[in-house]
Amino acid sequence: MQLKRLEVTNFRCLRAVEVALPSQGAWFVGRNGAGKTSILEAACLLGFGRSFRGRVADGLIRQGNPDLQVVAHWVDDATRSRVAGLRHSGESWEGRVDGAAVSTLSELAAPFPVLVFHPESSGLVTGPAEERRRALDWLAFHVEHRFSEVSRRYSRAQKQRNALLRAGAPDDQFDAWESEMGAMAEALSAARESALGVLRPSFESAWTELMPDSQAPEIGLRPGWRRSESALADLLLLNRTRDRELGYTTVGPHRADVDLGEPLGVASSLLSRGQAKLVALCLVMAQAEALRRWSGIRAVLLLDDLRAELDSERFSRVLEWISRHGYQVLISGTAVDPEAHERLPEMAVFHVEQGEVMALQDPPVEPGPAL
Ligand SMILES: Nc1ncnc2c1ncn2[C@@H]1O[C@H](COP(=O)(O)OP(=O)(O)O)[C@@H](O)[C@H]1O
Ligand SMILES: [Mg+2]
Repeated sequence: MQLKRLEVTNFRCLRAVEVALPSQGAWFVGRNGAGKTSILEAACLLGFGRSFRGRVADGLIRQGNPDLQVVAHWVDDATRSRVAGLRHSGESWEGRVDGAAVSTLSELAAPFPVLVFHPESSGLVTGPAEERRRALDWLAFHVEHRFSEVSRRYSRAQKQRNALLRAGAPDDQFDAWESEMGAMAEALSAARESALGVLRPSFESAWTELMPDSQAPEIGLRPGWRRSESALADLLLLNRTRDRELGYTTVGPHRADVDLGEPLGVASSLLSRGQAKLVALCLVMAQAEALRRWSGIRAVLLLDDLRAELDSERFSRVLEWISRHGYQVLISGTAVDPEAHERLPEMAVFHVEQGEVMALQDPPVEPGPAL
C-alpha cells in the first residue's frame, strides 16, 4: 500500500497535522519533544488499534480535548483508493473504512498493514513471548482471512474456562469450552505454522542483507503445548486440577512463542541491547518481506529514531534494503544525513516543531551522524 495523506488531530502535542506523502515516504525531523514520534504513533494506532507507547486512555489524547482522531488516505496494492479513520476518547471509539462504520479494531487494521521499529523494539527479542507471538500473528492476520475469527473464538473460550476455574465450577461445565479451545488451538497453530513457513526464509534474507558477516539462526514455533504429543482438549482435561489451583489455563496457543534460536551465537536473553535491536529489526524487515511474498501487499514501515538506533553501516544497509524493495517509510530523527538523502531522494522532509509540521524544500542536510 501507499499512504497518500495522514491527518492527525489532538494526538499528544499534535493539534491538527496534515501531511501529504510521496511514494518513498517522509523524514520527520526536529528537536526532542517536537512531536515526531507522535506522528508515527498515530499511523500505528490506525494499523494496530493500539500505540507502541501506551494506551489511548493513558495520555495519547491532547490535553484538554475529549478525543483524538486519525485519518489515512492510501492506495492499496490493487491500486484502489482507500480511506480509514478512527476517533478515540480513551473509553469508546468510532472507526470507519471507506465511509462505512466498523465494529472491531481488527476491521480497521486489516486493510492498513503497518510495521513499527522503535527504541524499545529490542523487547521483541529479549521481552516476553507475547511480543514475538504478535509479530507472527500480524502476518497470519493479514493473510489468512479466518485468523482473526479463530483467534477471537479461542480467546473467548479461554476466558470462559479461566472464569470456571476461578469459580470452582463442576467438571461438566468445562467440556464444551475445552473442546472449543481444542478446535481453535489447532486452527490457530496451523495458521501460525503457515505464517512461519513464509517468515523463516524472509528472516534469513533480511538477516543476510543487514548482517552479511554472520549466519541467520533458524526460527521456529513453540506452539504453547506439546502439540505433537496430544490434542489440547485432552491436555486441558488432564491439567484441570492444577489449573484450578492456579486459577488460569497453563497450556495452549496463548502461550506460544517464536523461537529465535541462538542469534549471533548466544541465547537471545544474553544479547546486548544493541544486538537485540538488530535482531528485532531483522524480524520487522522479515515481517514486511513475508507479507509481500505471501500476498503481494507492501506494509508501510514506521521507523522511529532509526539513525540513533543503529551504527552507520547498519543504517546504510537498511536504507539500501528499503530502496531496493520499494517500501514506503516514515522515519523520525533529529536531521537527515546526506547519505540518507542520497539513497532515498524522493522522500519528503518535514520539520516538526512544537506539534506543528512544515514541509521543507531544502532538507537540513547535516554532516556526520544524524538521523
Ligand atoms: N496528551 C498530551 N497532550 C499534550 N502534549 C503531550 C501529550 N502527550 C505528550 N505530549 C507532549 O508531546 C511531545 C511528544 O513528542 P514526541 O512525539 O515524543 O516527540 P519527539 O519524537 O519529537 O521527541 C512531548 O513534548 C510531550 O510533552
Ligand atoms: Mg521521538
